Amino acid sequence: MQIPALQSVTVEILVDNFYDVFEPSRPGIVERVPPGRLPKPLLAAHGLAYLITLNHQGLLTRILMDAANDPLPLFNNLEALGHRPEEIDAVVLSHGHPDHYGGLLGFLARRSGPPPPVYLHRDIFHPKLFLTPRGRVGPWRLEMEQLQAAGVQVYQNQGPELILDQILLTGTVEATTLYEKGLPVFKRLLQGKEEPDPFTDEQALVAQVEGRGLVVIGGCSHPGIVNIVKYAEKLTGVDKVALILGGFHLTAGGDDLIQNTIQGLREIDPEFIMAGHCTGFRALTRLAAAFPNNFMISCVGTKVLVVGG
Ligand SMILES: [Fe+2]
Ligand SMILES: [Fe+2]
Repeated sequence: MQIPALQSVTVEILVDNFYDVFEPSRPGIVERVPPGRLPKPLLAAHGLAYLITLNHQGLLTRILMDAANDPLPLFNNLEALGHRPEEIDAVVLSHGHPDHYGGLLGFLARRSGPPPPVYLHRDIFHPKLFLTPRGRVGPWRLEMEQLQAAGVQVYQNQGPELILDQILLTGTVEATTLYEKGLPVFKRLLQGKEEPDPFTDEQALVAQVEGRGLVVIGGCSHPGIVNIVKYAEKLTGVDKVALILGGFHLTAGGDDLIQNTIQGLREIDPEFIMAGHCTGFRALTRLAAAFPNNFMISCVGTKVLVVGG
């Protein structure tokens, strides 16, 4: 599948689990917000929201990928970073966990004018649960009825689709690695029956920047970040990767998964890797050690730039 070569892609981390004002910038690649220069403090939270700006021949399109766990950090950080909800042209949900859609209805209610279209996988509506040592958490369910009541045009996909004529939504990720098997603690309800969550609903966004290669943006990466990037390469026929960004969900999978994923990322050989959210502290430290020159943690208020050349 051919996807257009864009002039640039920038991603601002609106909501993530981390906020570290001492994480340095990297000129031309990563810009951190200077502490004390914002109208109000940023909030870190267990959730994810990215503001993605695509530049296609000078025309800018802004996508909100995921809507955090709650409207509070989403609105606070949008405002602190000088954005308005009305700037958003489209919303993409990566998968059906509430730390990725919890702020969506609040966002739609707060925004004036017609709501932006929402893109999601049709399996996202199956209720989801999580097993913890202290019992079950959930079930949670994203309600289609509530999205419709908010007047939203919902686009559902299953397989890969080019959206907004610019960026690829992968659809269900094809699993090719042997070590990214999913974690047994995640469940979903299918016709009332609990089963291991296959995360068929999780998808990533894939853009191409001219002369640089792919930008792969994941949410929680439950299907495995190496599976996701390999699938993006297969779909597009492009094997040069400029940026891999997302939550990688690694620490909970143990040391073998961390080590195998690092090896898989080495083989992909991306220019830059940025991980945060559900990756976990232990895995982040390993990634930082494995990629001393091209890995950074994703913190709220960070802007990542991939400019064509
Ligand atoms: Fe998550
Ligand atoms: Fe998740």
